[in-house]
Amino acid sequence: MKVAVVGGLGHIGLPLSCLLQIKDRNVIIIDENAEIIDSVFNGNPPFFEPDLKENLAKALKKGLQITDDYVKISECEYVVVTIGTSSSKKDRLNFDNLINKVSENLLPNSKLILRSTVDYGTCSKLLSNKIFQEKNIILGYCPERIAEGKAFDEMISLPQIVGAKQDKFFEFEKFFSTIGTQTINVSYEEAEFIKLFSNVYRYSEFSLINEFKNISLQFGLNFERIFEVATFDYPRLKNIAKPGFVGGPCLPKDTKTFVENFNQNNKIIDLFFKTNEIFLENILSEIKNNCSSNKIIFLGITFKPESDDLRGSVAYELLKTLISTGYDIYVVEPNISHEAIKEKTYLYEDIKDQSNYVIIGTNHEEFKSYDFKDKEVLKIGNN
Ligand SMILES: NC(=O)c1ccc[n+]([C@@H]2O[C@H](COP(=O)([O-])OP(=O)(O)OC[C@H]3O[C@@H](n4cnc5c(N)ncnc54)[C@H](O)[C@@H]3O)[C@@H](O)[C@H]2O)c1
Repeated sequence: MKVAVVGGLGHIGLPLSCLLQIKDRNVIIIDENAEIIDSVFNGNPPFFEPDLKENLAKALKKGLQITDDYVKISECEYVVVTIGTSSSKKDRLNFDNLINKVSENLLPNSKLILRSTVDYGTCSKLLSNKIFQEKNIILGYCPERIAEGKAFDEMISLPQIVGAKQDKFFEFEKFFSTIGTQTINVSYEEAEFIKLFSNVYRYSEFSLINEFKNISLQFGLNFERIFEVATFDYPRLKNIAKPGFVGGPCLPKDTKTFVENFNQNNKIIDLFFKTNEIFLENILSEIKNNCSSNKIIFLGITFKPESDDLRGSVAYELLKTLISTGYDIYVVEPNISHEAIKEKTYLYEDIKDQSNYVIIGTNHEEFKSYDFKDKEVLKIGNN
C-alpha cells in the first residue's frame, strides 16, 4: 500500500507517517515546508512529541520518503491530507488550493483521506467537484482526535471516526487496521459535526469555569477557596475543569469555525470568547495590583505543560502584553530553544533572585521542584 501524507511534516502528519511506515506501508510525505525536509530526513523532528524521534528514526530506516513535489501523489493508492486548517481567509484559501493540486495529481479510483479539521459541508462540496467525479475518487473524512503529547498512544487507542459512503467504508477500515485502530462509519456530515462539536464542547467547558471565576471576582469572592470547598469529596463535580487559560492550536479555532459554520454569532458559544478575554484582563489587573516592582519572573509560555507548542498560547500572549506595558520580565521556558522566540529566556537558578514576584503561565512538571521560598507566586492554571 503506497500512501502520500500531504502536510506530513506537521504535528498530525508526522507521527501518522512514521507509524504507517513502521507498519510497512510505503509512505511519502509531501510538505510545502521545503526548508526543514533535510533536517527531518536526518532524523530531527521539527517539534517535540514523546517517542517521535525514535519512531522517525525507525521509519527512515524502513524507507520513509519526504518531498515537496506534489506529482508524487500520482504514485499513491491512498492520499492523506493533514495540513493546518482554520476559518481564516488565508487557511481556507490554502486548503482550497491544496485540494486542487491534490486532485489534479490523484490516480483514478484512489482513496483521499481528509484528516485535517474541515468546515461543515466540505465533503459534500468536494464530492460535487468535477475532477473527483471524473476520477471516481473515494473520499473519507477521518478527523484526527489525538491530544498533543499523546499521539503515539491515541492514534491507536482512540476509535477512528470515518465519514464515508457505506459501501466504501471497507477501504478506510483496511487503511486504519494497518495501525490497529478501530473504525466507526458515519455520514460525512456526522463526522464533520463530531470533530467540531467535541472541540467546541471542551472549549466551552474550560471557558464556563472561567466565567464563574470572572463573576466571583466581580462580587469580591475568592474563587480558589470556593472551588476547593465545592469540589471536596463531592462526586457530582469530580471531573470539573479548573480555571485557566484556554488556548492551543485547536480549541479556539475550531470553536470559531463552528460558530461560523452554524451561524451562532452572539449566541452562547460565541460569548465564551468574551469570557476568556475578561479572564485575561482580570489576570493583568491582578498582576498590576499585586506586583510592587516592575520586575517579574515568568515561568512557562507554551500552550500547555510538557509541550513546546506556542500556537494559540494565552500564556505567551500575557507575556507579550506585560513586556509591551513596560515590565522587565525574566522568562523561564525549558521546552523552547533560545533561537525559537525573540524574548530572552533564562535558567531559574540564574535569575531567581531578580524578583520576588513569580507568574506560572504554564505549569511544566519541572517547576514543581523549584524553590519559591519568600516569593509571591501567581499560578494561572493547568494543575
Ligand atoms: N495539533 C493537534 O493536536 C491536532 C489535533 C487534532 C486535529 N488537528 C488538526 O490537524 C490539522 C493539522 O494540524 P497540525 O497541528 O498538524 O498543523 P501543523 O501546522 O503542525 O502542520 C501542518 C503541516 O502542513 C504543511 N502544509 C501547510 N499547507 C500546505 C500545503 N499547501 N501543501 C503542503 N503542505 C502544507 C505545513 O508545512 C505543516 O508541516 C489541523 O486541521 C488541525 O486542526 C490538530
